[in-house]
Amino acid sequence: MKKIGNADLLLRETMIQCLYMAKVLNQILLGKAYYKSPDFVLFKENCIDFLKQIPEDSIDMIFADPPYNLSNGGFSVHAGKRVSVNKGKWDESKGVKNDFSFHTQWIETCRRVLKPNGTIWVSGTYHSIYQCGYALQRLGYKILNDIAWYKPNASPNLSCRYFTASHETLIWARKDEKEKHTFNYKAMKDGNFSEDFLKSSNKQMRSVWSIATPRPEEKTFGKHPTQKSFKLLERIVLAASNKGDVILDPFTGSSTTGIAAVKYGRKFIGIDIEKDYLDLSIKRYKELKNE
Ligand SMILES: C[S@@+](CC[C@H](N)C(=O)[O-])C[C@H]1O[C@@H](n2cnc3c(N)ncnc32)[C@H](O)[C@@H]1O
Repeated sequence: MKKIGNADLLLRETMIQCLYMAKVLNQILLGKAYYKSPDFVLFKENCIDFLKQIPEDSIDMIFADPPYNLSNGGFSVHAGKRVSVNKGKWDESKGVKNDFSFHTQWIETCRRVLKPNGTIWVSGTYHSIYQCGYALQRLGYKILNDIAWYKPNASPNLSCRYFTASHETLIWARKDEKEKHTFNYKAMKDGNFSEDFLKSSNKQMRSVWSIATPRPEEKTFGKHPTQKSFKLLERIVLAASNKGDVILDPFTGSSTTGIAAVKYGRKFIGIDIEKDYLDLSIKRYKELKNE
């Protein structure tokens, strides 16, 4: 039998300590959870502070739908009625400099927790997406793609002085310049995307996706003012993660990301500052699990 030297013993002791610390950390974190089940954990926290407590290099994929800073008192049309574009206090702009500082902070805290080959998706409109893209580049991420999410049923423009806003942009970026990220090429090429008239069957998935805004059945338990379509998150989860991966959403809202993640066998961590949105997330999760 091979004799264990002092260096091996030291290494083993360090590993045991690391595992113990990870366990303690996990317990502390889970103790703070607003809701927990084996594959779906929610925290009612400010993501910038809270992400600092999550172990480094531990997350496979992040989907972030941050405030777009577009709640400026304007109006739009929904179901034939004039409606305010305001989403909530959390969505108001605090000026270009402060908004950029906010986006830089959360994007930086996300980078620490991502695994080196982990990827982040960031959604936005022109109000926020250029700031997020610049912050990603400054912080050392490698941008992999930008996706144009075309919404064929977008609301009309009331003023008739602008083009009708009918798309959002999603930036997909990897933490580390050199690592190999997950991209399920075949699932994207050969999958069934019948909702998308731009996707031809058995042809490569392109970077323009046509997906309608959330269907009424996605809002059975009430609605989040900026709820993402399930079909959008389903595609992202299937493209950029594998079964058993840990997916995190720092601005989880009604947890569309979590519902797609759990449906396809991934584990989910969601963070939001608003209790009502977390309660809505729990209802959606329980429906998925038939609880
Ligand atoms: C654009 S919405 C996300 C909607 C979500 N993708 C969905 O499908 O329901 C952004 C969310 O971020 C939350 N939020 C804003 N600032 C936050 C912060 N600093 N930390 C955590 N959550 C925050 C808001 O309460 C809001 O629910």
